[in-house]
Amino acid sequence: MDLGGAKLFKHMLDRNQQEVVVNRVRDVVAQVPLFHPVTASGRRMSVRMTSCGRLGWVSDRQGYRYETHHPNGTSWPKIPDEIQDVWKQVSDCDVVPDSCLLNFYGEGAKMGMHQDRDEGDFSFPVVSISLGDDALFRIGGTARGGKTQSAWLGSGDVLVLKGAARLAYHGIDRLRFRSSDLLKDHGRINLTLRVVR
Ligand code: SIN
Ligand code: FE2
Repeated sequence: MDLGGAKLFKHMLDRNQQEVVVNRVRDVVAQVPLFHPVTASGRRMSVRMTSCGRLGWVSDRQGYRYETHHPNGTSWPKIPDEIQDVWKQVSDCDVVPDSCLLNFYGEGAKMGMHQDRDEGDFSFPVVSISLGDDALFRIGGTARGGKTQSAWLGSGDVLVLKGAARLAYHGIDRLRFRSSDLLKDHGRINLTLRVVR
């Protein structure tokens, strides 16, 4: 499915693969716990985050950036093989991702429209994996405030932002909380693989 130039692979991961990835995510979170990022203006984001890979995305009162360590001082764990495999299947590039952002959406969490533009080279795609509850994803163009399209992202869906869509504004408007039984306490995990360097 083509969504404003982004490629959406519905149901790419089957239930068993989803469960394996969730277990890997649990191992990561045990080492580098989820935290609520704060924006430079002091607003607490509703999504909780952590990362794996060489670099992880953090945001606090000093602003947002990639860091080699979790705010607690631990270096980020490596990206699990099963997650790297998804990148290999859909990224259409030989380079391996050096960052995997792990977002957790609880009831009522959402993410405002933004561009992913903290990476060094926008010719590499962004690959995003959805697990758990359905989320309403919205994508527009490369300018803020333009026309947008929406699609529900379900558990096991994989979205690739590349080409013209690589710098498209996108966000999550809302969750269909409890729509999936993948996660014991419901909610949604989103994994975003990137080449940051
Ligand atoms: C993001 O843009 O960082 C997250 C998108 C998503 O949760 O699907
Ligand atoms: Fe994003």
